[in-house]
Amino acid sequence: MNQHFIECRNILFSYENGNEVLKDITFKTDGKEAVGIIGANGVGKSTLLRILVGLELNFTGEALVEQMPVMKKSLPEIRSKIGYLFQDSDNQLFTQTVYNDVAFGPRNYGLTEQEADKRVMKALDTIGITHLKDKQIYKMSGGEKKMASIATILAMEPDIILLDEPSIALDPKNRRLLINILNRLEYVKLIASHDLDMILETCDRVILLAEGRIIRDGAAELILRDKDLLEAYGLELPLCLRGYQGKKIRVY
Ligand SMILES: Nc1ncnc2c1ncn2[C@@H]1O[C@H](COP(=O)(O)OP(=O)(O)OP(=O)(O)O)[C@@H](O)[C@H]1O
Ligand SMILES: [Mg+2]
Repeated sequence: MNQHFIECRNILFSYENGNEVLKDITFKTDGKEAVGIIGANGVGKSTLLRILVGLELNFTGEALVEQMPVMKKSLPEIRSKIGYLFQDSDNQLFTQTVYNDVAFGPRNYGLTEQEADKRVMKALDTIGITHLKDKQIYKMSGGEKKMASIATILAMEPDIILLDEPSIALDPKNRRLLINILNRLEYVKLIASHDLDMILETCDRVILLAEGRIIRDGAAELILRDKDLLEAYGLELPLCLRGYQGKKIRVY
């Protein structure tokens, strides 16, 4: 039986200001599936991922990672299993150079320097940024930082990955590379994004959030083709399903 799964049971969560963000979230991943978390700005997608990786512990209900409840004392073990990509890369990268950031996870989990180096070089190569290895983080573009952040996740070789807006800031070539990498990785994947084309290409299942609740949980192919449903919750059909409607070209 595959033990790599995530489960949320009746999760309720408010930030300290009393703003009730998640009202009753229940779902369980099934095997090594990829699940897209979608919904308008502010519905709680990032908050849900933050809860699962133990960055917000003040919730009620149960969050389980591989049957382990997310709580303070289980955090080291939980974080050794989960690769978590922050929505904002500036929260992810905190050392001086790309190499050190990508090496941080492997070094922290007890690999020798030689083993850590192997992991770092493999991750940088996979994501195509070996040339950025010694670059100082503060001198990098938004897209470069996103690619470096993704490399930090790959270097950990986790069982589960939680990605918050992974395609944001990526140019079309790097976005395509990301999609191909995600489709190759046999991990449990939870991907929060507004890039519904990317979700359609990478996820089997989609969870649509609104007003702190799960509005729909089902096959990505069905939910992402439901124009009325998506529009009712502030979203639009993926571009690839919209058909080109033509745009008037102005001749100067
Ligand atoms: N640290 C915080 N303190 C108080 N409220 C917060 C905090 N972080 C987020 N919120 C609020 O919680 C709600 C959910 O935020 P969250 O970032 O989870 O949304 P999201 O679905 O990821 O949105 P987006 O699509 O813009 O990334 C929003 O109303 C937001 O203003
Ligand atoms: Mg977010």
